[in-house]
Amino acid sequence: MGKVYGFCGAATNHYPSPMADGPSGREPAAERPALPTLQEHLGRVQEYLRSCGFLAFPASETPLRQKLAAFMEEHRDETARIWAETVGRAFRISEEDLCFLAQDMREAVVRWLAHVRNPDDVETYEALREHARGGFIARHPPSRFLTSQLKIRHILGDLLRRDKRDSPDLPELLALLDQALWERVLHITDFFVEAREQELADQHERYRRSLDSAPAILFMVDPEDGVINGSNLVAERQLASAMRSPVGSALWELHPEGERDAVRTLFRETVTRGSAGKENLHLERASKDPLPVDLRTTLITYGDNRIVQAMYVDLSERRRLEFQLIQSEKMAAIGQLAAGIAHEIRNPLGIIMNALYDLAELLPEPTPEVREDLHIARVEMARVQEIINNLLEFSRDSQTEVQAVDLNVLIGRTLKLMNKYLQNSGVRARAELHSVMPCRASENGMRQVLLNLITNAVQAMPEGGELRVRTEPLDGDRVGLSVSDTGVGIPPERLGRIFDPFYTTKSPGEGTGLGLSVVHSVITNAGGTIEVTSHQGHGSTFSIALPAELEASPHEPPSAGREGA
Ligand SMILES: Nc1ncnc2c1ncn2[C@@H]1O[C@H](COP(=O)(O)OP(=O)(O)OP(=O)(O)O)[C@@H](O)[C@H]1O
Ligand SMILES: [Mg+2]
Repeated sequence: MGKVYGFCGAATNHYPSPMADGPSGREPAAERPALPTLQEHLGRVQEYLRSCGFLAFPASETPLRQKLAAFMEEHRDETARIWAETVGRAFRISEEDLCFLAQDMREAVVRWLAHVRNPDDVETYEALREHARGGFIARHPPSRFLTSQLKIRHILGDLLRRDKRDSPDLPELLALLDQALWERVLHITDFFVEAREQELADQHERYRRSLDSAPAILFMVDPEDGVINGSNLVAERQLASAMRSPVGSALWELHPEGERDAVRTLFRETVTRGSAGKENLHLERASKDPLPVDLRTTLITYGDNRIVQAMYVDLSERRRLEFQLIQSEKMAAIGQLAAGIAHEIRNPLGIIMNALYDLAELLPEPTPEVREDLHIARVEMARVQEIINNLLEFSRDSQTEVQAVDLNVLIGRTLKLMNKYLQNSGVRARAELHSVMPCRASENGMRQVLLNLITNAVQAMPEGGELRVRTEPLDGDRVGLSVSDTGVGIPPERLGRIFDPFYTTKSPGEGTGLGLSVVHSVITNAGGTIEVTSHQGHGSTFSIALPAELEASPHEPPSAGREGA
């Protein structure tokens, strides 16, 4: 890459800065203005020259032009030799390189004289433009190249005065030579600037792309007042739903009230010490939970400029994994306890059930009240037994019974089984079943998973609604299963608790709060994951990913299952 010189700074006006201070802090790359074509460029310079009255000689083939061109051609070698010797010395070019220099100049004079003869021949400018973009012109200061061009004019002038001393055309030939030289110098100057502009624009583009592809939210902040004046694409995507663009706000204004003082202090520390950092902060987002982040700030100085770069690392994925870990540890502990209790209670429970049965048989003529009480006792005992079964299912180490389970078939059967219940509850079921590999899980467990998720969904839609059960292949040899409803939804503050055993919002007798614990334990025992997204008043979606049974082939969904119940 060529060296960049002072004047190029002005060229940056043409292109958006990578951290521009527009409303969104950027302009798309596609809006970058196209470079002028060579014809546009030549036309523009011609126009300036004409308007300033510098074009004394028309741009068409004339006898005078032919005469000057013929002279240049005739003196081409001499011109190039004198030029190479003078310029070579001035620019300290080595002896060995002088002949190459002279050869280059001979070729340049040939191209130039073709243009002098016929101004429509612009090969000389094609070559100059090319060289300005990374060629030899780009490798040296422009003043060096321009003085060497003035030298050519000087040498040709001397030769004209020597050989055409007595020609009446001499003054006109010299004037035409000057006109051709001015034109050339103006074009070369524009080519220089244009090439540097392009180089800068390319550098900016590279810089912008590298910032945009950084796996973090980046802001450029004014060290004086903490106001953000640029952001990268990740920031725009992550905070797209913010009430207003972060650009123009003070850095701390992006944080919840309680964190602002800490961020202000951190910012001041950055400006005095050069860098700072803080963990466990949050960035506010409109209509979304605050984004958990770590913040690192650095003061960048270059020349007289200072800017603070703020880098936010998104912690939501880490938090999700931590939550899953805590959840599974909690489940494991409760599971052991539950298994112990369930085991201990099962035997006395069986004895009580038998006793109730005997009592009903032994009583000769029970009164209606006694009969009613016996009935209640039996129904409630059945409920206790169901809870015990759930507890055992929840605590069972299902690894041993993992097998290939065809989810599409299981969903078809479950929906058929629950058809009446769904209809009575005013729920329309839609099964969106795709061709998926069987998953590796406990079949009985997966039945529980479907029953629990569907029951919860129906209970969340007291006025009826739509239940959607979906299967789909996922990346990384996993099978996706999701159950969605259009029900009441789950408030954000409850989302973290719904998988806890015995957590229920249902009235006593309606729910034990074990359904989702069982679901969680079956899924994690099978090596899968479960996530929930919910919008209050609009519904919830439970999304499960399970490892596929790789030894099996994908199962087509049963045709009956496609339409749903
Ligand atoms: N689809 C859903 N929509 C709204 N809230 C839900 C949904 N699924 C679960 N919940 C909430 O999560 C809580 C826990 O669910 P879970 O299935 O574990 O227990 P439960 O349904 O209350 O009782 P059980 O399933 O033991 O009969 C529910 O009480 C409810 O508040
Ligand atoms: Mg439930």
